[in-house]
Amino acid sequence: YLPAAEGGAAMFAPPAEDFQGPSAPPASMFDSVPGYEGTVAGGGGGFLPPPMPSYPVPQPEPGPHQPHWNIPSISEDTARDAFVLFASSKCCYSAAPAKDGVITRMDAFNTYRYRLETFTESRSTEWKHDPYHGQPVDAFAQPPPGPWDIPAKSPTFFVDDKQVIKVPNTSSLKVNHLKHDWRTKKLPCLCGNGEKTLQKLFCWVCNGSGFRHGDDRCDRCSGRGRENCSQCHGQGSKQCDTCQGKQQLLVYINLTVKWTNNTDNYVVEQSSGLQLDNLSNVSGKELFKDTQYMVYPVTGLPDVTVVNASQRLVREHQNKFCQNSRILQQRQTIELIPVTKVTYSWKGKSHVYFVYGNEFRVSADNYPATCCCTVM
Ligand SMILES: *[C@@H]1O[C@H](CO)[C@@H](O)[C@H](O)[C@H]1NC(C)=O
Ligand SMILES: *[C@@H]1O[C@H](CO)[C@@H](O)[C@H](O)[C@H]1NC(C)=O
Ligand SMILES: *[C@@H]1O[C@H](CO)[C@@H](O)[C@H](O)[C@H]1NC(C)=O
Ligand SMILES: *[C@@H]1O[C@H](CO)[C@@H](O)[C@H](O)[C@H]1NC(C)=O
Ligand SMILES: *[C@@H]1O[C@H](CO)[C@@H](O)[C@H](O)[C@H]1NC(C)=O
Ligand SMILES: *[C@@H]1O[C@H](CO)[C@@H](O)[C@H](O)[C@H]1NC(C)=O
Ligand SMILES: *[C@@H]1O[C@H](CO)[C@@H](O)[C@H](O)[C@H]1NC(C)=O
Ligand SMILES: *[C@@H]1O[C@H](CO)[C@@H](O)[C@H](O)[C@H]1NC(C)=O
Ligand SMILES: [Zn+2]
Ligand SMILES: [Zn+2]
Repeated sequence: YLPAAEGGAAMFAPPAEDFQGPSAPPASMFDSVPGYEGTVAGGGGGFLPPPMPSYPVPQPEPGPHQPHWNIPSISEDTARDAFVLFASSKCCYSAAPAKDGVITRMDAFNTYRYRLETFTESRSTEWKHDPYHGQPVDAFAQPPPGPWDIPAKSPTFFVDDKQVIKVPNTSSLKVNHLKHDWRTKKLPCLCGNGEKTLQKLFCWVCNGSGFRHGDDRCDRCSGRGRENCSQCHGQGSKQCDTCQGKQQLLVYINLTVKWTNNTDNYVVEQSSGLQLDNLSNVSGKELFKDTQYMVYPVTGLPDVTVVNASQRLVREHQNKFCQNSRILQQRQTIELIPVTKVTYSWKGKSHVYFVYGNEFRVSADNYPATCCCTVM
């Protein structure tokens, strides 16, 4: 039995139409590969329903939070040093306000950040083809393993990654996928006769006349007056890119396994005047961390909005990521992010800046001495 016989409708018949590129073969052609009915060229399909979530185990409540969490956690010196560093990092900020300004007040607006990370695996399949140069053809004797039965590598939890695996027992041959010339093994070029016919593509040396200086035949175009087709260089036919002149294609299914670290944050609003966006780049003091297959929403925090956010995000993630993927691991953390609002006076006027995060990041709107807009 010759699985690859031309035109033969085989049990695992691969896509029948010409492979000019990553075009999607009709779905009906693939209904014949058991377990891969949804596979198309171009991705999608092949998803296995996720496992039944085992009931998440309640975990210990978050530990005691900072005893004095709402007083400034930095000294005046730290605040001033951070401010001076900030001013010096801006090319047109004068250092004077940061150095000579007198701190009159420090207020803490420390806040909590709740973070939920859900690490998922998803799998999709796609028809592929390569030029055939003798690779094993294995599509016919036994059914291929299901998409979720194919072993993949062990991922590192919470790190995005990807693996592409050729699905065993799906490779078959496609002979003469295009109308090659059997003798030259080439394809007719779409330009027809190997010459560009548009007026614009007249030979640039003779400008289409075919002659130079009166009766001399043009060397460049051999008197034809036209530029050669850039695809076939005037030959009228060219090698097929798809099969690279082999005239046969190996057609098979590739499985793509994708690992994704899906993250959501919730930061408690403290109405300090510092936009919450600014906190996305800094870290805080980790108060609580819980990693397991599926987490249970946190309880027992004094701040009920964190408890609410945890319940909402855990529910959202478990609904969303059970649809087309498998949850492999979840992690939730609570951080205390220090935020200090510093009021200082400079040249008799009061101004404000913020120092926040373990990194002592500074944000100061309306810095009083920017040389670009203030005459010193
Ligand atoms: C199925 O694929 C595996 C791996 O490529 C191969 O070892 C095996 O021989 C194949 N089975 C058949 C019946 O072709
Ligand atoms: C998971 O993703 C988040 C943001 O997407 C990132 O902050 C975090 O570092 C990632 N974790 C790992 C271990 O890469
Ligand atoms: C299919 O997957 C195999 C194994 O990873 C890879 O070597 C091959 O290049 C893939 N085929 C295509 C067309 O991407
Ligand atoms: C080239 O040919 C075109 C059309 O025949 C003509 O309009 C154009 O003036 C010619 N250019 C030169 C430099 O001879
Ligand atoms: C154009 O194609 C002809 C015919 O194949 C060839 O003889 C000629 O050398 C080509 N000219 C250029 C400039 O490539
Ligand atoms: C926070 O960041 C935004 C840009 O994301 C910026 O416009 C704003 O001035 C920053 N500082 C404060 C105090 O909000
Ligand atoms: C966070 O940091 C990145 C790169 O360091 C920067 O492009 C972005 O503007 C920062 N966002 C805020 C809100 O400061
Ligand atoms: C927390 O959620 C409950 C119900 O989901 C709601 O009644 C309550 O107002 C929420 N509390 C806060 C502070 O958002
Ligand atoms: Zn010419
Ligand atoms: Zn051509």
